[in-house]
Amino acid sequence: MVSRDTLSLVDLAARIAADAKKLQQRLETIGHPQPSFAPDTPAIYPDDAEAQAARMKLITAALDLYGLATGPRDFIVWDAFLSKHDTMTFDVLNEFNFWHAVPIDNSASYAEIAQRTGLEEAVVRAVLRLSMSRRVFAEGQDGHIVHTAVSAAMTRDRLLQSWIGHHLQDVAPGCVQFARHLRANGGRSSTDPAKSAVAETLGGRALFDVLEAEGDGWRMRRFAEAMASMKSSSHDLEHVHAGFDWGGLGKGATVVDVGGSGGHVSASLAAAHPGLRFVVQDLPSVEAEYAAAVPEELRDRVKFQVHDFFAEQPERGATVYLLRHILHDWPDSQAVAVLRRLVAAMRPGEGGSRIVIMDVVMAGHGTVPLPLERVQSCMDLQMRVALCAHERTRAQWEELLKESDSRLKLKGLVVPPGCAGAVMEVVLEDER
Ligand SMILES: C[S@@+](CC[C@H](N)C(=O)[O-])C[C@H]1O[C@@H](n2cnc3c(N)ncnc32)[C@H](O)[C@@H]1O
Repeated sequence: MVSRDTLSLVDLAARIAADAKKLQQRLETIGHPQPSFAPDTPAIYPDDAEAQAARMKLITAALDLYGLATGPRDFIVWDAFLSKHDTMTFDVLNEFNFWHAVPIDNSASYAEIAQRTGLEEAVVRAVLRLSMSRRVFAEGQDGHIVHTAVSAAMTRDRLLQSWIGHHLQDVAPGCVQFARHLRANGGRSSTDPAKSAVAETLGGRALFDVLEAEGDGWRMRRFAEAMASMKSSSHDLEHVHAGFDWGGLGKGATVVDVGGSGGHVSASLAAAHPGLRFVVQDLPSVEAEYAAAVPEELRDRVKFQVHDFFAEQPERGATVYLLRHILHDWPDSQAVAVLRRLVAAMRPGEGGSRIVIMDVVMAGHGTVPLPLERVQSCMDLQMRVALCAHERTRAQWEELLKESDSRLKLKGLVVPPGCAGAVMEVVLEDER
């Protein structure tokens, strides 16, 4: 059990000092630069178990210290009032590409930023004033704007820009709508993805239908890039590698990456395992992402195939069917339909096909570090708001497998350190 006992301000501050020291020393030992707000700071912490554990404790204590220092009334007032503007500001910075309006190794005046973004200078000043309070951009002594660590990370990583765009433009309007959605539905969330809170903000169409149908595919491209940006911290691609024995599959084994987006996960696995072949399956509008996600030298082993996972599975008897962040997108009835299509294609029994599911397995409250519990809780809410789906506990996963086919058995469940999700290995037993 991760304890969050009630500590005084000073006790918390002492805990923070001790945890910060531990983190600093560990970073020194492994030769990783110390965190700072300077633009040349590494955008992510290293994938080092000791550093990550110290970091989780530090964030937990810092959140509590913030809560105590703020006090209940201001915590409530500020949270409701400030957080929506913090979110909105990020959206404006991203939509109008402030990231490139300020040169990464130089400064820009407010007038120059206004000219480059096409925004009036008063708005530029208002938006930057708030974002600078969170150290996203800074004003130098000459009154010009310079980058900080966060704005520089955004500038350097186009995928992160898509991450912000997807969350703040595709999903956030539905979050604002969720309470009204629940009220209108008698206190329940709808079970039809075309009637989710997000769908209500998208003209009554399911999110994936909108992503797939929009214009020249820009919206699905942005979504695919947002997914591809999930490669660090709680969603580090390393966790996919660590959570299953890919090397043990043997030469020539085929992995079907069902709903694999452009193929960023398969490409990463293929680079590490030269003996494996991958078929990445997704909707037609995602195919354009394949060229960006899969390097030329891997394309003979990582192929893209247009496939709707509610239709008959064309790749029969594959070694592994990988479902990464797929089933959590769907209510149980549709998740069952996806699994049944795979069951029909699997080789049963010992040495037969396996399904590898990578998704959140909801942990009990207080059993994982608080930052991970917050990520899991938000993922669960996001599925509810956007897709009428939800994250599942271990028991719910087992129930889903059983409902899909009584021969499907959860054989292994690995939670890689620091990962918000888990990797589950599912086999199809011979006999019913
Ligand atoms: C949350 S993303 C996960 C992508 C990828 N597996 C990953 O781990 O980053 C869900 C994926 O399911 C795809 N998808 C949605 N509906 C689909 C369908 N009916 N058939 C195939 N793919 C679908 C989306 O295009 C998207 O790439």
